Amino acid sequence: MSDSLAIERKGSIGRVTLNRPERHNAFDDVLIGELTEVLRSFEAEDAIRVVVLSGAGKSFSAGADLNWMKRMAGFSMDENRRDAMGLATLMRTLAHLRKPTVARVHGAAYGGGVGLVACCDVAIATQSASFALTEAKLGLIPAAISPYVVAAIGERAARRYFLTAERFDAAEAFRLGLVHDLASDAEALDEKIGDLVDSLLACSPAAQLAAKELIRAVANRPVTSELIQDTAERIAKIRSSPEGREGVAAFLEKRRASWVAPEPEAPAAP
Ligand code: COA
Repeated sequence: MSDSLAIERKGSIGRVTLNRPERHNAFDDVLIGELTEVLRSFEAEDAIRVVVLSGAGKSFSAGADLNWMKRMAGFSMDENRRDAMGLATLMRTLAHLRKPTVARVHGAAYGGGVGLVACCDVAIATQSASFALTEAKLGLIPAAISPYVVAAIGERAARRYFLTAERFDAAEAFRLGLVHDLASDAEALDEKIGDLVDSLLACSPAAQLAAKELIRAVANRPVTSELIQDTAERIAKIRSSPEGREGVAAFLEKRRASWVAPEPEAPAAP
């Protein structure tokens, strides 16, 4: 593993920080492969319940490394297809991760950086963060990230920002739904991320996974009798599941559910 990623496991939180600050955390094929691997290993570790993605230095991520893009232009179509699948696989791995994912966004999030934000379940940005889908200005298109970005900002906004490559600010990202909340500065951002992680850790991991699958199953689908049947099936299944039973019982018995960390012990009286 190169040093392009900083990885930290702290209690139930897996943190991965893009760590090429001198390139504004632009990612090439190597970083893409490594990030995919790290996400998969967090997914497989029972102790990790929430994944936080951030960037070191001035930016969250300047997207695809343009030196890599330039290099790939000289390769065959088949090689380009194979290579492009790496980025598509990363986006899918992040978007479909079986655990909640959080993007901590500051500075620039451009191109693929916007893709990473859109793939996370929740994103919070500083008010000074800036965003752009610059691909068209470079003669490219935001292909691999498009399913997730269009899902996040909608087709209408995608038409504008994919075609104009205009930069937009954090307030606009918030208005479009790309980010869920804004923080005044980095310190406030960390505080908000901390509160968000606490909320995520208070919920049932099995329910969170089932909720992610539910969203994918119902989003943009017509409400047919099959879909209604499917939603009934899902709630019927989860309410008789171990965590469904435990969560409801814990509420009624006025106690913490088994997945919630116990309250820290009060210091002994002198
Ligand atoms: N790929 C490769 N290198 C990149 C990069 C990228 N996506 N983004 C920034 N860099 C490099 C710059 O080339 C520069 O390298 P140098 O020091 O060798 O000249 C270095 O990072 C610092 O960037 P610079 O532009 O001087 O910093 P800035 O603070 O003025 O601007 C950005 C930062 C991110 C706004 C600006 O670099 C930018 O617009 N980058 C392009 C992002 C982009 O379009 N990404 C989508 C790709 S599909």
